[in-house]
Amino acid sequence: MKTNLPLDANRLWADVMALADITDPARPYTRRSFTPLFLEGRAWLARRFAEAGLTTRIDTAGNLIGRLEGTNPALGVIAVGSHSDTVPSGGRFDGIAGVATGLEIVRALRQSGTRLNHTIEIIDFLAEEPSEYGLSCVGSRGMTGSLDSKMLDLTEPSGETLREGLRRVGGDPDRLAEAKREDIRAFLELHIEQGIVLESRSLDVGIVTSIVGIRRIEVVFQGEADHAGTTPINLRHDALVAAANTVAVVRRLAEQLAGETEDYFVATVGILTVEPSASNIVPGRCRLLVDARTTNPVLTKRFVESLDLESAAFAAAAQVSRTAFETLSDGPPVACDADLRAALRQGAQDLGLSEIDLPSGAGHDAAFMSRISRSAMVFVPCRKGKSHAPEEWADRDAIAAGAAVIFQAVRALDQSLSQDAS
Ligand code: GLV
Ligand code: MN
Ligand code: MN
Repeated sequence: MKTNLPLDANRLWADVMALADITDPARPYTRRSFTPLFLEGRAWLARRFAEAGLTTRIDTAGNLIGRLEGTNPALGVIAVGSHSDTVPSGGRFDGIAGVATGLEIVRALRQSGTRLNHTIEIIDFLAEEPSEYGLSCVGSRGMTGSLDSKMLDLTEPSGETLREGLRRVGGDPDRLAEAKREDIRAFLELHIEQGIVLESRSLDVGIVTSIVGIRRIEVVFQGEADHAGTTPINLRHDALVAAANTVAVVRRLAEQLAGETEDYFVATVGILTVEPSASNIVPGRCRLLVDARTTNPVLTKRFVESLDLESAAFAAAAQVSRTAFETLSDGPPVACDADLRAALRQGAQDLGLSEIDLPSGAGHDAAFMSRISRSAMVFVPCRKGKSHAPEEWADRDAIAAGAAVIFQAVRALDQSLSQDAS
């Protein structure tokens, strides 16, 4: 355990654990965006922000922002943050550790009587995880001018639009342009690695080099519900037959593309709904969501072209219609800022922590923030690389070490960016 860290590891840990407790008790750890539990978590966070001396607001894109004015506000903002929403039955650390890091940095600054030249903001981005509307990174898209009206028209299963949902959590879709920022000079995000590199090599932190591009595609097959006992096989219009073949081809194409080059490529069908979903009814309708990720968008383009052809052929063979083949979102891969990475590496070295450069296969708000600001990330080890599952675990000292690296970088950047501006 490192004892010379410039912040309070126990206080940081207590925040992560307190937020983890705000969960659906039947499905730990679940705090889905836009739900009453999510709002409860946010109310708790807003209180902690206020106790730490931050002025707190929700911007029109639904992000919770705590702000501590610098001595020279004209310099702009250094921002630290991540997200407090979770996937269903997710973990206690994904996103949360990054928000709690920002909060702890502010407390440590105040405790040591340090005032930065830059204003510092701690951001809890709205809905980093794919929301019930089918869209991820809602808040960071909004903050970077990347949330368009087609996205706001997306609906969740009961029919509420994202536009309405955004209003319900304190945002304002009619004034979204006001959420777009031009004053952020640097954005830093701490996150658990969600992989095994750091743990298996006993390293303290990863300095993230790049974040994968993610494309999400909705595919819908419309067949005809029929009696499962009396409808002859050759007269069926079974939507699930087409859908099942599509799941298998997603896997086959991903294996092929990943094997062809050095570039990273993975694809997953994580949502498959079958209607009406009864054991004695031929499936009438199926909806799939395909998530394709890469460091090279050319691979995604080839994947989508093949998937389009193959899934149309499966529909024809099963005598069903393919009523949707739609890209819901498409973000390119992003390189993290070289100067910020250097500041993070220096921070780790100053603290005597071991570090390594690492690419990210997960999506993060930092990918969107890089559209408006220099952005970079620190990864901390997590047990067996497990994430998006209740077993997700990161040690108290590992999180504190990563947070301390961000803290060092914030202080160094406050100086170097002030000099650049003068
Ligand atoms: C975010 O957790 C993602 O990578 O989907
Ligand atoms: Mn996640
Ligand atoms: Mn996350």
